[in-house]
Amino acid sequence: MHITLAPMEGVVDHLMRDMLTQVGGFDLCVTEFVRVVQTKLPKKVFYRLCPELHHGGLTPAGVPVKVQLLGQHPEWMAENALTAIELGSHGIDINFGCPAKTVNKSQGGAVLLQYPDMLYKIVKAVRDAVPIEHAVTAKIRLGFNDTLLALENADAIYQAGASSLAIHARTKRDGYRPPAYWPWIAKIKATVDMPLVANGEIWSAADATLCQEQSQCTNLMLGRGALALPNLAKSIKINEAPMSWEALKLLLIHYSGYEIYGDKGRYYPNRIKQWLSYLKIQYPEAESLFTQIRKLNNAKDIVDVLQKN
Ligand SMILES: Cc1cc2nc3c(=O)[nH]c(=O)nc-3n(C[C@H](O)[C@H](O)[C@H](O)COP(=O)(O)O)c2cc1C
Repeated sequence: MHITLAPMEGVVDHLMRDMLTQVGGFDLCVTEFVRVVQTKLPKKVFYRLCPELHHGGLTPAGVPVKVQLLGQHPEWMAENALTAIELGSHGIDINFGCPAKTVNKSQGGAVLLQYPDMLYKIVKAVRDAVPIEHAVTAKIRLGFNDTLLALENADAIYQAGASSLAIHARTKRDGYRPPAYWPWIAKIKATVDMPLVANGEIWSAADATLCQEQSQCTNLMLGRGALALPNLAKSIKINEAPMSWEALKLLLIHYSGYEIYGDKGRYYPNRIKQWLSYLKIQYPEAESLFTQIRKLNNAKDIVDVLQKN
């Protein structure tokens, strides 16, 4: 079984990837999306979202990281995919799931699920540009407003030569409302001869087993479930018990960014608060910690509270 850490904009950044891959059980990470407009992006954009590119595209624990691109222009997607590969990305993932509306007249993400021909053109252009030894993958939802094009979309991506396809088993309209429709993944699997990755609503080892049964798909992608329970991947793979709150506190201190950025890391306090909102699902302690740090906005103060708790 292969487990991917899901891309999550604003939450799963390089520090989160570092921590979760140290905790273990993950085989691959995908970055937050790089938004591609009609331009060749400077290298610094890739390095900012994926500092691992400075280290062979690997997290400190040695897990490969794949850059995700979001955009609608096949030629610019191809051009920027090539840059990411040249910088050391372990393959390219294309985002066809992001619910955001049109931005700067540039579409990308789930809106494209209404146009299978666009999916084909984008994946084909990227596949043609990127040397064949590097995987080109895509991530979709089941559709935009409904599932009418689910099979056609998957087929377009397959015909364009994608190496594999991750499926978040809900439409854009479904948002994040449970359930995820895992049996839909099995339907898609029956029509395309391409490895699939099942995603959506896996919060426990039991969910993972049920998802595998219903989706007929061995490989999984974990998002919010791994933020709520950082050793979820190991719980799924080797039945590991949930990690202790004490161990988690050390991760929170690391994620505050204080050890790395000192007091300048103003941006991490917000990310910690966001992470705590996921941890609350599995750890009651996260709720009271959240209350204590809610008004704090520098890393040092947060670390002080964490050390006293
Ligand atoms: C805050 C947030 C940010 C996300 N950002 C991305 C993203 O940048 N790219 C992407 O393909 N999916 C993104 N997703 C979707 C997740 O990768 C995943 O498909 C979704 O959360 C369902 O999986 P889960 O139930 O395991 O969380 C995001 C989801 C959330 C909640």
